[in-house]
Amino acid sequence: MAKRVLVSGGAGYIGSHVSVELIEAGYDVVVADNLSNCDMTCFEGVKKITGREDIPFIKMDFCDIKAVENLFDEFKIDAVIHFAAFKAVGESVAEPIMYYKNNLESFMNLIQVAHGHGGCNVLFSSSATVYGEPDELPVTEKSPRQSATSPYGNTKQICEDILRDSVNAYVTGDSTVHIGSDRPGPIKGIALRYFNPIGAHPSALIGELPRGVPNNLVPFITQTAIGKRDCLNIFGNDYPTPDGTCQRDYIDVVDLAKAHVHAVRRMLEGKMENDYEVFNVGTGKPLSVLELVKAFEKVNGLSLNYKFAPRRPGDVVAIWADPTLANEKLGWKAERTTEQTLASAWAWEKHLADK
Ligand code: UD1
Repeated sequence: MAKRVLVSGGAGYIGSHVSVELIEAGYDVVVADNLSNCDMTCFEGVKKITGREDIPFIKMDFCDIKAVENLFDEFKIDAVIHFAAFKAVGESVAEPIMYYKNNLESFMNLIQVAHGHGGCNVLFSSSATVYGEPDELPVTEKSPRQSATSPYGNTKQICEDILRDSVNAYVTGDSTVHIGSDRPGPIKGIALRYFNPIGAHPSALIGELPRGVPNNLVPFITQTAIGKRDCLNIFGNDYPTPDGTCQRDYIDVVDLAKAHVHAVRRMLEGKMENDYEVFNVGTGKPLSVLELVKAFEKVNGLSLNYKFAPRRPGDVVAIWADPTLANEKLGWKAERTTEQTLASAWAWEKHLADK
């Protein structure tokens, strides 16, 4: 029998790519999403790409603990990948309580119920934002976390801690806090710290669907190229970097999705060296905003309307990963080139325009 993986927030950008890779690797997938920040476009795309019409979809909110219980009563879950969270940095500054309530409560409900249903392997989608402005580059998993600059970033740190503490506390499998059946079990956990996920599936059937004006760089670029936006503002060209613009580690979303499959396999095959593990998921190669814009223009044969604008408050100057640990322990490595990734982002934007 195939092992079953629950993907919370599985109708979203990263969750849909992860669902495809899991199915293609032979896992059964259950997708659960409250559709608060997406519609069914990507879930329909997942079905088309995989040729699987029978993927269970549950519309639910992980803040509703009864709904989480019902889910675990209905399905035997071998591993869960948790994406269901709010993710806009600026909005989290304006609405901190909404972010803390949603992002923390949903994750605590999930762990509590999973613990009460025989235990579970839990993979948390964390972020390089936990490193803040690093003192040394590239960052390894041992690099210190810095205090978060936004409630969003803080929820990533707190959820990492919730997972670590739950793994430590429930290692024997027993406790009094579990909810659900009378067979509490251990929690094992992996946190993947993503750098900057970009691009879309090569089929152009799933990709990023930002609501309103995009905050992130690549959707803003593709929307400018297609004519939805007049001009890309490059935030800051006076940073202490080779060309004055910020440097990031842009990771192809399909490569990123594959890292999840490797991590799930490590958990399910009992290969973890510790019951709680953390991995950087990046390419290890920095790219500046300007380099990325130029690469986008070149690979897609177009010229982008952009201008330099003041620095954006809260941006770090430069961050990129040392992905050695993931390379060695997960047996995973980023494979797609920047050109392939930027071509896929553009193909997805054109696909949206055709619809
Ligand atoms: C942000 C979040 C990160 C989150 C990620 C999701 C912080 C500090 N950052 O990363 O936690 O995981 O989004 O993808 O919490 N830029 C422009 N013009 C634009 C948009 C962006 O010049 O219109 C620049 C930014 O200044 C930055 C780079 O592009 O240097 C990347 O920005 P963005 O895509 O928003 O990602 P991050 O801020 O790195």
